[in-house]
Amino acid sequence: MNKNILLGVTGGVAIYKVVDVVSRLKKLGYNIKIIMTDSACEFVSPMTFETIGKCDVKTKMFHEGSHKIVEHIDLASWADLFLIAPASANTMAKINHGIADNLLTSCALAYDKKIMFCVSMNTNMLNNPATQKNIRELEEKGHIMVSSNSGLLACNVVGDGRLKEPWEIVEEVEKYFCKKDLTGKKILVTAGGTVERIDPVRYIGNDSSGKMGYSIAKKAYMRGAEVTVISAKTSVECPDGVENIKVESADEMQKEISNRIEKFDYLIMAAAVSDFKVANKRDKKIKKSDNFNTLELKENPDILKSLHKNENQIFIGFAAETNNLIENAKKKLSEKNLDYIVLNDVSKSDIGFNSDYNKVTIIGKEDIFEIEKESKLNIADKILDLIK
Ligand code: CTP
Repeated sequence: MNKNILLGVTGGVAIYKVVDVVSRLKKLGYNIKIIMTDSACEFVSPMTFETIGKCDVKTKMFHEGSHKIVEHIDLASWADLFLIAPASANTMAKINHGIADNLLTSCALAYDKKIMFCVSMNTNMLNNPATQKNIRELEEKGHIMVSSNSGLLACNVVGDGRLKEPWEIVEEVEKYFCKKDLTGKKILVTAGGTVERIDPVRYIGNDSSGKMGYSIAKKAYMRGAEVTVISAKTSVECPDGVENIKVESADEMQKEISNRIEKFDYLIMAAAVSDFKVANKRDKKIKKSDNFNTLELKENPDILKSLHKNENQIFIGFAAETNNLIENAKKKLSEKNLDYIVLNDVSKSDIGFNSDYNKVTIIGKEDIFEIEKESKLNIADKILDLIK
């Protein structure tokens, strides 16, 4: 069943980002109801939120419509999550002290679950001991603070207080509702493509973006696991909440994995590891005049094959193939002593490397599952379902 989000909007210039938050939450299928304070209505008309959210927007405790239902109690009991964005210093102070002088703060007083506050204000207002005390006390009461980012504020000051970006707020909401079925599990994930140096400025690499590995890391973290990522070269940022160890070459990746694999229950090897490294690598930049015209290669270690897997561990590998897909993947499953292998057809440009989407086949020792084209985040969930 779709979850109900009650969004409280207070006054602040960052309100424009919250219009985007509503649009994104709507697309994800959440039911939304919105309360705006008088100050919020000075920045954006309720009509904007009503149109984007296709939902009720309430602004007043006392209005001309019917009062047969006690609105603030009704809204508070309807909500699965009360999200306040932007959360001003004033509204947080009032909620912390139990003041209920408008519809939003009255709902907050009547709401008996955790409130999620998305902090947004000027740096000095944020650093004021009164605000810091309110934030601390709200957290102690169990509420969730989505802290602000640092950057250029509307008041032309550079500092803390910028409302998080819409996608970051939506991610916090998704994390809040995510089932925590991987709590207590330790997962090691590899991501990206290894880089094999030719000289200090040149290398052999591959097209892996790291998106698949990072999607797995992000979802595993959201589902409660303790996650470490070993990242080779990627074109996207490592998700928050996970330990990130950066490496360059296959040799470095092998070292980092074998140093810590014992502590993990699961290894998900999504990295594209180069099979060869440069045997005649140079320490100084190669000049045209050096007549360096032959690259000599030598084989890299096969990391998965080199690991000693204990009986309680589960290892999942990936197989990037362009032909004889199933046959090649099954061979890797057995040769690399894997529990599952996720088969990727890398001959198609709309999926796989660099794309946000993928279409994979998960092959186990006895079973095989086809997953139709889906976002890498959804595929990550399906891979993680194997180990929950
Ligand atoms: N892998 C590894 N060490 C390597 C190469 C690959 O551990 N030196 C891992 C990859 O991270 C992946 C799995 O093995 O999980 C399969 O990788 P893939 O590149 O498809 O297979 P290769 O073993 O390299 O075989 P080939 O390139 O010949 O298909």
